[in-house]
Amino acid sequence: MKGAEVFRFFFAFVALALDLHRIECLDNGLSLTPPMGWMAWERFRCNTDCKNFPDTCISEKLFMNMADRMAEDGFRDAGYEFISIDDCWMEKTRDSKGRLQADKERFPSGIKALADYIHSKKLKLGIYADYGTHTCAGYPGSIDNMVLDAQTFANWTVDYLKFDGCYSDPKTMSSGYPKMTKALNATKRPIVFSCSWPAYWNPKPDYMVVAKYCNLWRNYNDIQDSWDSVVDIIDYYAANQEELIKAAGPGHWNDPDELIIGDFSLSFEQSKSQFAIWSIMASPLIMSNDLRSLTPRFRDILLNKEVIAVNQDKLGVQGKRVFKSTDHYEIWCKPLADESVAVVVFSRRTDMPLEISFSFKTVGFPATSASVRDLFEKMDVGVFNNAFRCLVNPNGVRMFKLLQVDAFS
Ligand code: GLA
Repeated sequence: MKGAEVFRFFFAFVALALDLHRIECLDNGLSLTPPMGWMAWERFRCNTDCKNFPDTCISEKLFMNMADRMAEDGFRDAGYEFISIDDCWMEKTRDSKGRLQADKERFPSGIKALADYIHSKKLKLGIYADYGTHTCAGYPGSIDNMVLDAQTFANWTVDYLKFDGCYSDPKTMSSGYPKMTKALNATKRPIVFSCSWPAYWNPKPDYMVVAKYCNLWRNYNDIQDSWDSVVDIIDYYAANQEELIKAAGPGHWNDPDELIIGDFSLSFEQSKSQFAIWSIMASPLIMSNDLRSLTPRFRDILLNKEVIAVNQDKLGVQGKRVFKSTDHYEIWCKPLADESVAVVVFSRRTDMPLEISFSFKTVGFPATSASVRDLFEKMDVGVFNNAFRCLVNPNGVRMFKLLQVDAFS
């Protein structure tokens, strides 16, 4: 081959390799900041009894009600975007062409019509399927039908897929989940891909590989409606943070599961704690609650734009726990795109408010003076040197943003 031909051959080869990479890996340009929305599972589970529970069963009405609340009560404007169906939406069998179908009694208009309704509210629709032979609740799985199912979801104009991992062999997931990535890419419809692959993998998957194929992924136990469950998840994240943080960034996020703020268990302080820590961890903010009966105190937490801004910061760094005391408190921080630093001071004490201080050095703030803003109180507290001290309620948090003083002058 002559020099020019070698050159052309080389470029053709590189172009082909790049193209293959685009098809194989997830390259949908979505979720550049952590996804925000609402999902049915934690609050509404697999209640299919619409005769006795017409308002809370898994039905098109439930998702339409939630879309109305998201659009009218300020959630959409605060950034919450997806209304996601979880398990138990399907018929127990596929249709005559092998396609998944929605339960005909509970979703009489079908998923496309539901998607149209949700899109008319300027929201997006999420759906649930399973990599294995069955979903976790026993509905048809996708293992032999990934291409068809991806195309069905695209035809229905679905915007987000949670792909669970029940009834499958976890050893096949590292090659099996990428098949769904490829099938979704091939539909050409932008569909956020939420994987459950790491949650089923024992002991741990290679998160850098997961991040190539999924926009977000569950990696630990399901959240339950309890403070113990929230704390257990926080502990798991802190214990594994070095590995988890490396995999997170624009387009690919660790998912510690839904927000249970406004449900039955969490107190006001505990709710602020879940919101602050999920936000500082750059976690998806996916509520699972009844938006129709949310009281204003809980709604205000979920709509706190300054805390949401920390979560949605463009730099996309997952924050970390930088200090844990023997006296049951901890300090978390997250660097932000404007060179400020977000800090959460979290007390696990159950007896009384605790006075806690942290140094600017501990939270990675690069200057000696900082202007401190309280994100829950929504007020500037003042300019401080080297360290800051505050009072934190039992099971509660304080959340601050430290800004360079120059930025203010
Ligand atoms: C698993 C998932 C949950 C939920 C249920 C549905 O447990 O982890 O988030 O989707 O299945 O059956």
